[in-house]
Amino acid sequence: MYSDAVPVHLIQHPIVQDILVALRDTRTDAPTFRRLGTRISVLLAAEALRDLPTCATTVVTPLGEAQGQRVAADVVVVPVLRAGLGMLDAVLELWPAARVGHIGLQRDEMTAVASRYYAKLPAGMEHSFVMMIDPMLATGGSAVAALDLLHEAGATSIRIICIVAAPEGIALVERHHPDVHIFTPVVDRGLDAQKYILPGLGDFGDRLYGTL
Ligand code: PRP
Ligand code: URA
Repeated sequence: MYSDAVPVHLIQHPIVQDILVALRDTRTDAPTFRRLGTRISVLLAAEALRDLPTCATTVVTPLGEAQGQRVAADVVVVPVLRAGLGMLDAVLELWPAARVGHIGLQRDEMTAVASRYYAKLPAGMEHSFVMMIDPMLATGGSAVAALDLLHEAGATSIRIICIVAAPEGIALVERHHPDVHIFTPVVDRGLDAQKYILPGLGDFGDRLYGTL
């Protein structure tokens, strides 16, 4: 459904895979789900930030000079509301200097088409390292709407971090934004009639906030 050329990074770290199983489990309650969402997001974000540009530097330790590398990039993280908020603390823990944009999208329950109700993005993202965070990539409609907005706002270097992806969503992102890298622990088998990911983990936002 999507081509081999699409830049999908499958994160197969054993701790990521262990947390994913717990997130999928219907017996996991909302407080536990929130903690697991943060823990898995730290690991996924670390992978997505692996190619952050750095520059050489020197510091003085109590015993002498040491060479090192400092991050030399403006990082922008953009959670897609509301479920993406469940991944934000993890990214900010990893890189507190990140600037944060917000995009509010809501899928219609009947049609699964996403419509935008909020957007506030940092200015000057042309040279920024932009990470869009949204745990579920299902039809890809929300991701493409958010990516369109980021492109319109001038972002050029964008990656998506999600927790479960469907082939349909990856294919749509590839069609509209072939340069965008996708970081995910898993690509599930497809979508059901209501466009939920199979086997997925259900409605991430509802499980995160206990609105089931
Ligand atoms: C969920 C999820 C994604 C979207 C994925 O959000 O967080 O944004 O669905 O589906 P898609 O790939 O088919 O667009 P939802 O619209 O349910 O809103 P919520 O985060 O407020 O629960
Ligand atoms: N949104 C979710 O939260 N879960 C899905 O399976 C699809 C969209």
